[in-house]
Amino acid sequence: MIGNVFDGIERPLSKLQEYSGDFLKKGCNIDAIDLEKKWHFIPSVNLGEKISRNTIVGTVKESEFFDHKIMNPNHIEAEVIYIAPEGEYTAKDTIAKIRDNEKEYNITMVQKWPVRIQRPYKERLTVREPLITGQRVIDTMFPIAKGGTAMIPGGFGTGKTMLQHQMAKWSDADIIVYIGCGERGNEMTEVLEEFPKLIDPKTNRPLMERTILIANTSNMPVAARETSIYTGITIAEYYRDMGYHVAIMADSTSRWAEALREISGRLEEMPAEEGYPSYLPSRLSQVYGRAGITKSYNGNIGSVSIIGAVSPQGSDFSEPVTQNTKRFVHVFWGLDRELAYARHYPSVNWKISYSEYIDTLQDWYEKNVDEHFVDDRLEIVKLLQEENELQEIAKVVGQDVLSDMKKLVLETCKSIRLGFLQQSALSDIDTYVPLKKQYRMLKSILNLYTESAKLVEKGIPISKIKALGLFEAYIKLKFNVKNEEIFKFDEFDQNVLEKLKQLDEEYKDYM
Ligand SMILES: Nc1ncnc2c1ncn2[C@@H]1O[C@H](COP(=O)(O)OP(=O)(O)O)[C@@H](O)[C@H]1O
Ligand SMILES: [Mg+2]
Repeated sequence: MIGNVFDGIERPLSKLQEYSGDFLKKGCNIDAIDLEKKWHFIPSVNLGEKISRNTIVGTVKESEFFDHKIMNPNHIEAEVIYIAPEGEYTAKDTIAKIRDNEKEYNITMVQKWPVRIQRPYKERLTVREPLITGQRVIDTMFPIAKGGTAMIPGGFGTGKTMLQHQMAKWSDADIIVYIGCGERGNEMTEVLEEFPKLIDPKTNRPLMERTILIANTSNMPVAARETSIYTGITIAEYYRDMGYHVAIMADSTSRWAEALREISGRLEEMPAEEGYPSYLPSRLSQVYGRAGITKSYNGNIGSVSIIGAVSPQGSDFSEPVTQNTKRFVHVFWGLDRELAYARHYPSVNWKISYSEYIDTLQDWYEKNVDEHFVDDRLEIVKLLQEENELQEIAKVVGQDVLSDMKKLVLETCKSIRLGFLQQSALSDIDTYVPLKKQYRMLKSILNLYTESAKLVEKGIPISKIKALGLFEAYIKLKFNVKNEEIFKFDEFDQNVLEKLKQLDEEYKDYM
C-alpha cells in the first residue's frame, strides 16, 4: 500500500484511471493491491509452532527500507502446519497453513478488515513520547503524543493544509496516512506532485516510501468520502499492529461531516444542529477513539495518531463540528485569521491553543531534551500571557506609561513571536527544526530576557538596551543558523553578555 494513492474505498487511482478514464464509471471493482506482483517473502515461524492472532509469520520488503510484516489474521490459537520457504510469492499465494481445533486455514499476504470496526489489540498503553514534527509552535508549545489526537480548526486560507503537509513531511512517524477528504482537487495535486520529490531527512529516501495517500476530493462521490476516514484509520491500525508508529492527517474532517450530513439527509433522518445528524458527536468520538498507543497480540508496540483539520465557515469556532471535535481531542491548534493576514505562519494562536500531553510527557522531555525543558516552556507561556495583558492596557492608555520592565516583556515577546513561534515552511533552514535546536533557541531568548532584566532593574533605560539590536538579531537567527550549527547559539549568548556588560560599564558612573 505504501507509495500508493487510493480513493475513499481503497481503489488505486492509477488503476481507476486506466479503467474508466478521467471520470469515474459506475461500479468498477478494482483490487486495492497488485495481486500479480511478486514479493520476496522471508518466513519467521516454524512448522508445528503455536501461533496466535497477529503473530508475524514472515516479512517482505515493501520498500527498500520498510519491512512489511505478514501477520496471522484472525485465529486466536492455532498451529502452523505449512510455512512457505523463503522465495518470491504473490499476495494471493498461500504462504502458511494453520490448524485450530476445528479446521485448517490458508494464510496469504492479504488481510481483509471491515473498516468501521476497530482492529483489536491486546492492551492500550499510556502515551509516552511526543510525535516530533520539527515545528516549534507544535513541539515546544503544544505537543502531540505518539498515539494522540489533535485538531487544526481554521478558516479558509489560514494554513491548515500547509501545516498538515509540514507534519506529513517532517514528523518522526514510520508511516503517514494522508487523507485528502473533500477538499479541492488542486490541493491534492500539490501533494501528489510535491511529495514524490521530497527526501526523508532520516533515511535519505523518498518520503513517498513511507506515505499512503487517500484522495477523495470534492468532485468525487460523497459516500466514498464518508468512508475514506475509516479506510485511512484501518490502514493505520494495520501498520500499528506490525509495531509501527503511524500518523494520520485528515484534511478536512468538516468535509467528512458534510458527507455524513448529506447521506443522513437522503436517508430522511431527523436533522439536528445545523442539519448534521444527531449522531455526529458519537461518530467523531468513534473516529478519534481509534487513536492510541497499543500493544498488539504479537507483543509489538505501535501507535496511531490522528490529526484532523476542521474548516469552520468564516472562522466561527462555535459551529458543531469544531465544538464536538474539541470534546474528543487532546490537542487544539487554533489557527487565526488575523495572524494569517499578517503572514504570521503557522498561524497557531497561542492564546487559544492547548495541549493536554505536557504533564504526561514531562519525563520524556527531562530524559531526552533537558531537565528544565518544561519549566522553560512555562516561562515562555507566562511571558506571552503577560504580553497579552499589557497589550490590553497599552490599547487604553498607550505604551508610554508602561514601566521599562513591562516594555522589556513586550520587546521579548515580539522576539518570541517573530523569532520562535513564526516558522516559514518555505525556508530551507527553518522548515524543519529538531527539538534540541528548538530548545536551544528558547534558551537564548530567555537568556537575553533575564540578562536585560538585570540592567533594567539597575535603572538602565530600556531604549539603550533595545538600541543594541540584540532582539532583532535574535529574530534573524532562525534563518541563519542551520540545524547542524547549534553552537552558534553559544556565540549569540556570549555576544549578548558582552554587549550588555559594555552597556552596564558605560552606566556605572551615572548610577
Ligand atoms: N507555515 C507556512 N509557511 C509559509 N506560508 C504558509 C504557511 N502556512 C500557510 N502559508 C501560506 O498560506 C496559504 C494558504 O494556506 P492553506 O494551507 O492552503 O490554507 P487552508 O488549507 O487553511 O485553506 C499557503 O498557500 C501559503 O502561502
Ligand atoms: Mg486547505
